[in-house]
Amino acid sequence: MCGIVGYIGARNATPIILGGLKKLEYRGYDSAGIAVLENDKIELRREAGKLSRLTDAVQKSPLSGQIGIGHTRWATHGAPSQQNAHPHLGCTERVVVVHNGIVENFLELRDELSKNGAEFKSETDTETIVHLVEHYLATGLNLVEAAQATFEQIRGANVIVLMSADEPDKIVTARIGNAGGVVVGFGEGEMFAASDIPAILEHTRRVIFLESGQMGVVTQDGAEITTVEGKPVEVQARTIAWDPVSAEKGEFRHFMEKEIHEQVRSLTDTLAGRVDFDEGRIRLPQLNLTSEIAQKIEKIYIVACGTAAYAGMVGKYLIESVARIPVEVDIGSEFRYRDPIVNENTVVLAISQSGETADTLAAMEEGRSKGAILWSIVNAIGSQAMRISDGVIPMQTGPEIGVASTKAFTAPLVDLYLLAVLLADLRGTLDAAKRRQMVADLRLVPDLVGQVLERESDIEKVAHALKDIKGCLYLGRGINMPIAYEGALKLKEISYVHAEGYPAGEMKHGPIALIDEEMPVICLAPRDPWHEKMISQIQQAKARNSPVIAVATDGDEVIADMADHVLWIPPTPWMLSPVITVIPLQVLAYHIASLRGLDVDQPRNLAKSVTVE
Ligand code: AGP
Repeated sequence: MCGIVGYIGARNATPIILGGLKKLEYRGYDSAGIAVLENDKIELRREAGKLSRLTDAVQKSPLSGQIGIGHTRWATHGAPSQQNAHPHLGCTERVVVVHNGIVENFLELRDELSKNGAEFKSETDTETIVHLVEHYLATGLNLVEAAQATFEQIRGANVIVLMSADEPDKIVTARIGNAGGVVVGFGEGEMFAASDIPAILEHTRRVIFLESGQMGVVTQDGAEITTVEGKPVEVQARTIAWDPVSAEKGEFRHFMEKEIHEQVRSLTDTLAGRVDFDEGRIRLPQLNLTSEIAQKIEKIYIVACGTAAYAGMVGKYLIESVARIPVEVDIGSEFRYRDPIVNENTVVLAISQSGETADTLAAMEEGRSKGAILWSIVNAIGSQAMRISDGVIPMQTGPEIGVASTKAFTAPLVDLYLLAVLLADLRGTLDAAKRRQMVADLRLVPDLVGQVLERESDIEKVAHALKDIKGCLYLGRGINMPIAYEGALKLKEISYVHAEGYPAGEMKHGPIALIDEEMPVICLAPRDPWHEKMISQIQQAKARNSPVIAVATDGDEVIADMADHVLWIPPTPWMLSPVITVIPLQVLAYHIASLRGLDVDQPRNLAKSVTVE
């Protein structure tokens, strides 16, 4: 949710921390702050609003030192004001803390600390942490001991980074529960701590990830990892393959635009090494899927949130059609509250870009506690979802920075297709010719995506026609029904236009009452098994004077005659069509939001990874 960066080394910490925060701004942009130890004094700069305001403040009033921590905030407790911005200093002004998560017992802690004389200057739960550390320091403990005593006191899922002017040789960091990640980076004579890899990628690729319940004491020369109770833990640093350029915008105006265009590459990478085109077979080595496991699976629950859940809905179609296993798609925030029927023959399959979404992780834990096999399709390397899974299909997309997910939607669509074919192969539910055909079709995918992207200027023209709309319906049927949901979500999250995705057949049961000449309807009508039904749908919308925008297959004259605008896609095998039909909807949403002059990469009220319930 929030972004954290810590630095200790020989260089000036300020530009390193601000540069890292820039890479993490997607995690929250309600306020930003930095604390640096300068001449034995903790200097603080904090600003409400985006990071650029902090950068301006630092330019006007520079601060420099070799150790510091910074934060970019997505507000939970307390307004997004300067006073509530992190870092938070204690009363002695010798200890400073940044935090991501929620201290659930902060009210009772604050009362107790206030009674003992602590003066609170903000409305945040975070401030209790720094006062607690000071309280324990005053009893004679050193910083690490005081931090450990503090971690014991606080409830909830929290990531904490703190430092003290009195022990300037270290930064202390901890991860308690599922409040997002902590990555510790190893440089030459310098060390980093951050919420996510892109923050430090420019400086090092050698990292370790803290597990829940672990803490790190980070000095200039290395890090000592223990449990939060202080028990030593053996962790090997690993090298991340991502290159720093993948976390930059390059020639594009926005990360979202760049990430839309990266899909040709990311889908090529998704297939690489996993598809044997000669044999017509799929390999997913990190899934640890044996024929024995495949045979015993009785049910799959796909658990995910937002865009990832819509990818899961496409997965349901695929897995049920070809592997004949019943699949239910559950929203992460609901799964654990309905006592799902799970046993050791059930797979709980999580889909998550960040691998840190609290609701998805909670759903995985529910599955684990009931004995399920845990699988995940995850992008962020080293994330919690990846670590707790029995088997993983890592997305091959590289970092996704734009808050509106694009390439981390199409990659799992293809991953789910691969999984469906593999399961079907191992269970014997797909004849060899059909399997070979499904595998051969995969070869087309990157090129088909590229062909749609080449038509961007046509899509942009449609965006001009729609830029002032007040609302919009997206309709789809069959395997493209979830794409209606996804198209609507893309539009609403970056354009602030009310948009609803609907199964097209449901229109007549209510939503059709909304339709008039001011309500455009975007119809997913590629040549798939539901094509004729979508044509009737378009007729019904036209009969009520609604402007119709259709996503249709090249050469479809019927649709060309009926629709006001057509977003054309090349002919595509229908089981892969969601990967292609979603592309014009991503591009359309992007251009509508740009034409409305909105901040595409950082839409209001949102954050990239949602690490609170
Ligand atoms: C997508 O555009 C969203 N901003 C959001 O729905 C996202 O997909 C959801 O929060 C899940 O995130 P995850 O994939 O990191 O778990």
